[in-house]
Amino acid sequence: MKILITGGAGYIGSHVVKALAEAGYEVLIYDNLSTGNKWSVLYGELIVADLSDKETLKKTIVKFKPDAIMHFAASIVVPESVRLPLKYYRNNTINTLNLLDVMLQCEVKKLIFSSTAAVYGMPEAIPVDENAPMNPINPYGASKMMTEMILRDMHLADNDFNYVSLRYFNVAGADKDCRIGQAYKESTHLITRALKTAKGQFEKLQIFGTDYPTPDGTCIRDYIHVDDIADAHILALKYLLDKGKSEVFNCGYGHGYSVREVVDTSKKVTGIDFKVEETGRREGDPPILIADNTKIKQGLNWEPKYDDLEYIIKTAWKWENSYPEKYS
Ligand code: UFG
Repeated sequence: MKILITGGAGYIGSHVVKALAEAGYEVLIYDNLSTGNKWSVLYGELIVADLSDKETLKKTIVKFKPDAIMHFAASIVVPESVRLPLKYYRNNTINTLNLLDVMLQCEVKKLIFSSTAAVYGMPEAIPVDENAPMNPINPYGASKMMTEMILRDMHLADNDFNYVSLRYFNVAGADKDCRIGQAYKESTHLITRALKTAKGQFEKLQIFGTDYPTPDGTCIRDYIHVDDIADAHILALKYLLDKGKSEVFNCGYGHGYSVREVVDTSKKVTGIDFKVEETGRREGDPPILIADNTKIKQGLNWEPKYDDLEYIIKTAWKWENSYPEKYS
């Protein structure tokens, strides 16, 4: 089976490419390398091109003839999306439209889409399940919600077109063999930020808000290891290849940790008592985001293997300590 992966040189995409290739799928990666890296592509050929370049995209799909496409390529930084909304609607929504157009022209009718818990905004019930209304509170979440709506309508128009949308919660950690991991210099994500602070790349870690309605006053998130996310993609792919119909699944462990708990575990794992500063809330942060994962467990038989914050942070720490030397 042949799978085309957009954004396959990025953090999550590269872990899925690894999992696909190691499970015996033939992979082709399509990535503009705006945030991805050539060295992240452990398997398969890399086509360096943008999804706005429909001609190259079409040529690539016509030549490769994928059985399914996995679509990771997107911009993902929430605060940036508030500053630069058009970048997000262009990269995430319009570029997905381009991909869907070409898929239709080439009769490729199976897609796995990287969606996000950000589509829920501030959910009323926690844990949040897939039936909760989509009510994003930033352009990033809105750009992904729009794509989900387009996909739903495409399926309604043509029942042979089927997709799985995976709504990721807080993805973290790195490949256990330390070959790939998150590699954004200016990462804004909590775990990466904490570890870079432990390494001395930042003077201090700021905790954004200590007055939330949570036990210790800081926000709670459902942190999930990137290899468990990769497994969910393989299962979603098997489901679609087995003639499964369009579905949306949450990808999270179903429980969460506060910012303080993540900071304490990061200090424990690294053995470094890095400086922490408590500051005001960051705009657009929901107090608690935890997945109800009943549907993916039942629908895809997904069983997480790395549901352990310490393990997640250990793999990320090992990676933080190896990649700059190896690749910069
Ligand atoms: N945080 C800090 N200090 C930091 C960085 C983060 O206190 O330096 C806090 C945030 O305020 C938030 C929590 O840590 O309360 C997690 O923040 P992240 O930036 O790591 O992640 P988000 O929850 O904001 O967003 C992430 C992804 C989104 C995805 C979302 C789904 O970036 O793409 O998870 O839960 F939509």
